[in-house]
Amino acid sequence: MKIAVTSVSGQLGASIAKALIQEIGKENVIGIARTPEKAKDLGVEVRKGDYNSREDFDAALKGVDKLLLVSGMDHPQKRIQQHRNVIEAAKLNGIQKIVYTSIVGDEKNTAFSPVVQSNRQTEQDVRNAGLQWIIGRNGIYIEPDLEYMDTYEKEGRITNCAADGKCTYTSREELGFAYAQLLLNDGLNGQTLNLVGEAITQTQLAEYINQVYKTNLKYTTVSVEDYKKERQAALGEFLGTIIAGIYEGIRHGANEVVSDYEKAAGRPHKSPLTMIDNYHKKLS
Ligand SMILES: NC(=O)c1ccc[n+]([C@@H]2O[C@H](COP(=O)([O-])OP(=O)(O)OC[C@H]3O[C@@H](n4cnc5c(N)ncnc54)[C@H](OP(=O)(O)O)[C@@H]3O)[C@@H](O)[C@H]2O)c1
Repeated sequence: MKIAVTSVSGQLGASIAKALIQEIGKENVIGIARTPEKAKDLGVEVRKGDYNSREDFDAALKGVDKLLLVSGMDHPQKRIQQHRNVIEAAKLNGIQKIVYTSIVGDEKNTAFSPVVQSNRQTEQDVRNAGLQWIIGRNGIYIEPDLEYMDTYEKEGRITNCAADGKCTYTSREELGFAYAQLLLNDGLNGQTLNLVGEAITQTQLAEYINQVYKTNLKYTTVSVEDYKKERQAALGEFLGTIIAGIYEGIRHGANEVVSDYEKAAGRPHKSPLTMIDNYHKKLS
């Protein structure tokens, strides 16, 4: 049984590949990456695969039985065709099963919705491919929030436009474990699953961070418009708009969804406090 993971040079792809290696050994895992040399440390065979190239994937998927497709990073409209290149190559190569990493989020009303919609289109393309499939809808990763700790500490607060909305944070490590199980176990084939943790507000997030980091952060909410302007100035138009749209969705409840994590992974999702503590321990 050979299982391939795309975007294996990225953090989610690498986490899934590591979890799979634990289960089936390095010799049965194939990494696929746009930049193969970045994935050398995994110690598995790495093949070239740029989502823009159907030819890359026609070759990269030879001899592969199951495929994990990590969603791309490009502009939403470009992603649909990029993912289709992979799906078509999977069909050509007679792959048995495809597992796709999609996203939880508001499909219509926020600046993040075009990204969610492009993920929904790929979900449809995966379902229509005629292969066995599972779709995971990922919660928001907690790690990027924690990467902002220096800023939070400097300002003494976490500021965004989520207000009292709840977010079901997950982590790349939790997702890696769940996706390995979904690739190996066929009992959940044909299902779309929310891979998310416990729903918490930003105020609760600040409290958990304070416990672990021994800080005294407060949470402050701002308007969606102000937050969007601030994020665009800090991160540029494309990424700033997406990030503001994510918090806008949290504000309106789009991320407070029922979790299928335990069903997918066979064990409960780690609590937000544990995820923050694990991240903190890794850094120190
Ligand atoms: N749930 C969330 O909170 C959340 C947050 C951010 C993103 N996401 C989604 O989750 C995905 C994985 O996240 P991550 O944390 O692993 O991101 P990451 O660490 O930034 O990695 C991104 C990966 O995408 C690859 N990539 C970019 N363009 C590609 C292309 N044209 N063809 C093939 N590979 C390409 C990169 O390859 P190179 O090494 O060659 O650059 C890299 O491996 C993202 O792509 C995005 O769709 C989810």
